[in-house]
Amino acid sequence: MIKTLSKSIRQYKKLSLLSPLFVIGEVIIEMLIPYLVGVLIDNGIMKGNMGYIQKYGLLLLVLTIVSLILGASASYVSAHAAAGFAANLRKDMFYHMQDYAFENIDKFSSASLVTRLTTDVNNVQMAYQIIIRIAVRAPMMLIVSVIMSIIISPRLSLIFLVIAPIFVIILGLIIKSAYPYFPKIFKGYDRMNQVVRENVRGIREVKTYVQEKPQIDKFEKSSGFIYKLFSTAQKIISLNALVVAAVLNIATLAICWFGAKEIVGGNLQTGQLVSMFSYSNSVLFSLNILAMIATQLIISGASGRRIANVITEKPAIENPRKPLKTVTNGEILFDHVNFKYDPSDKALALNDINLHIKPGETIGMIGETGSSKSTLVSMIPRLYDVTSGAVRVAGHNVKSYDLKTLRDNVAMVLQKNVLFSGTIKENLKWGNENATDEQVIAAAKIAHADGFIREMPDGYDTMVEQGGNNVSGGQKQRITIARALLKNPKILILDDSTSAVDTNTEREIRQSLAKDMPETTKIIISQRIVSIKDADRIIVMNHGKIEDIGTHEELIKRNKLYSSIAEFQEENGK
Ligand SMILES: Nc1ncnc2c1ncn2[C@@H]1O[C@H](COP(=O)(O)OP(=O)(O)OP(=O)(O)O)[C@@H](O)[C@H]1O
Ligand SMILES: [Mg+2]
Repeated sequence: MIKTLSKSIRQYKKLSLLSPLFVIGEVIIEMLIPYLVGVLIDNGIMKGNMGYIQKYGLLLLVLTIVSLILGASASYVSAHAAAGFAANLRKDMFYHMQDYAFENIDKFSSASLVTRLTTDVNNVQMAYQIIIRIAVRAPMMLIVSVIMSIIISPRLSLIFLVIAPIFVIILGLIIKSAYPYFPKIFKGYDRMNQVVRENVRGIREVKTYVQEKPQIDKFEKSSGFIYKLFSTAQKIISLNALVVAAVLNIATLAICWFGAKEIVGGNLQTGQLVSMFSYSNSVLFSLNILAMIATQLIISGASGRRIANVITEKPAIENPRKPLKTVTNGEILFDHVNFKYDPSDKALALNDINLHIKPGETIGMIGETGSSKSTLVSMIPRLYDVTSGAVRVAGHNVKSYDLKTLRDNVAMVLQKNVLFSGTIKENLKWGNENATDEQVIAAAKIAHADGFIREMPDGYDTMVEQGGNNVSGGQKQRITIARALLKNPKILILDDSTSAVDTNTEREIRQSLAKDMPETTKIIISQRIVSIKDADRIIVMNHGKIEDIGTHEELIKRNKLYSSIAEFQEENGK
């Protein structure tokens, strides 16, 4: 994990190293001061030597100022380095996530990816700042204070020797028992974010179905889960404070007791005991800080692992080594294709699919919901990869194509499509960023979107809200079809893409597609017979299998499922 994360430090390496250097300087000076104060008391004040007092007084002043400057620099440098490191981490995660296949996203869940990009990165940023500053300062202080104490009084220093191991052991036990809570807490964050995202996204449904109360309950449940775990973990961690306080008091008492004896015995001077107190305070203070750092590191350790998992996740679908850069035609072949979404699934989502589609052919596809229509077509642009068998486009396995080439040539209008915030024109240009205005308009015309776009307040420059909330369902579908057309694809897949468009407009879109894109292979998935009955062939899907393929007339005669759907829809005037 540390190796993965540290790759993101990059240009902040220098700053990160500078911080501990400043800290080391600061601590050395800080630790020298009590010693000098001791010397000043014993040789200056006790002996009434004014020259000595002045000289040492000035030295102390200068040292204090230098130490302050070093301290402030360390704090600035470490904050800057940590913020930079965090920015790099976010960037690396986001870049890497762009290569994820659907399978990878399914694995993490999108809510979890957002938590990892935000909360987890913040935790690591905080920990990093601590590591390069305080985590250097505290052990340094500890070591220097112990050394100085040994110089002053080796016998009194034995107290630390007894106390430190006890302290470390108890601290270790506390950390060990608190650690397992944090990965669970972060999972809780993921769940809570999921609830919030769902709520905000589906706010229209929530209102329509008056689901506010159940939503609040759901939120409180996930939030309460985090609270419960956090407070249990904090209880364990707060034992830290108890241990530290106990150790602190015992040590102070011991130094008083043995220190007094040493003075009476003539082995120690008053000034030396004053310095000794100072150092023992520093020792205990740094132990206290170390305990706090340990807590922070526990939390961020869990976060760090979550970030590293995102960065090291292998994209399920990758570009081949020597990719094919052109798709010559729109021929499609499914050769004994089986597919499961999850290897542990019992049932196949696609069961022995064999299918040959000629270039330029128009294929309709119908079947009950959940019969794997969307699953079947998502194999063509490699949104998912087959579990066994092969999908070929223009004679080549889809896995041998450059991914961008393949997806540019296989345009798919997804069933659950979204528009992004930006103008309509910008959204359309996702299909082809170099498209001219004429091309954009031509595509919009085929998709029968040109008319309503022109009627909008700013025409093609009208802003689309996030998710496309300010355009109607049917308008959104037509914009997404136009967006796909701009790719000028060899294969066009419309997955239930005209469900919200009225039947007349839909027929016109089909006619335009047939007229303007004759060479493009078209696969049209629909629940409506009228949308597909003119297709060259129609596939009837049933439970992950191709039940039948034929023309409308053939299927009406021989396929029970098809003819019953047709009959039902005719009766209901659909
Ligand atoms: N991302 C996914 N992870 C796991 N299972 C999935 C996933 N997507 C779909 N499924 C499952 O695969 C099966 C086929 O789903 P698919 O979406 O292909 O059906 P469909 O025929 O397109 O249905 P609809 O007409 O409702 O769009 C369903 O049982 C569904 O639950
Ligand atoms: Mg579907």
